[in-house]
Amino acid sequence: MIIAVDGPTASGKGTIAKALAEHFGLPHLDTGLLYRAVGRQVFLNGGDPDNAFDALAACGFEDRMLRDSSLRDEATGGLASRVSVHREVRSALFDRQRAFAVQEGGAVLDGRDIGTVIAPDAQVKLFVTASVDARAARRHREMQDRGVDVPLTAVHADLERRDERDRNRSEAPLVAATDAYVLDTSELGKDEAIAAAIAAVENAR
Ligand code: C5P
Repeated sequence: MIIAVDGPTASGKGTIAKALAEHFGLPHLDTGLLYRAVGRQVFLNGGDPDNAFDALAACGFEDRMLRDSSLRDEATGGLASRVSVHREVRSALFDRQRAFAVQEGGAVLDGRDIGTVIAPDAQVKLFVTASVDARAARRHREMQDRGVDVPLTAVHADLERRDERDRNRSEAPLVAATDAYVLDTSELGKDEAIAAAIAAVENAR
């Protein structure tokens, strides 16, 4: 069983994907980490994330990069969003994601284009979303918990910028697959969102 979980930044898709993997005993791949690793590598190379050649050159990052804690920071998320618009980058990362998806026994992958590009054949597709306000508030709280003090308005503006880039790019734009189950987590707590996702998977498979 392949479970595809897509959605915008801070929608809760990562938390949901992780919980589904645990619940159904499946391996999980957070595909955003691959784009974050490319973004981080471009930065380390002194390259330009908006340049396709520089971004492609950064796709040869080493596996240990995926464990680098700086991948999670906001700056790297912004770089990831910029390198991910390049077709060259998306195709360089395709095989690795596809191989993970079709491994024996199944898998859970979360990202932006899992149900549309990486695994259009997934048995279960969830599109996890939430209002910009709800997502900004969550991201802001998370940052405060980590001791990062940024005004809510700045977090809100940054989210909108990333949403806009992810939705309007020509390659694999962020969009719900036509056969995806849309889960809006704006009004849901973490446990409620996870329970709703498990129920949706049970229904769909
Ligand atoms: O999900 P996360 O915030 O870690 O992703 C970082 C960026 O990587 C996203 O803003 C998006 O631009 C890009 N991405 C993508 N396709 C994926 C996963 C992430 O384009 N499957």
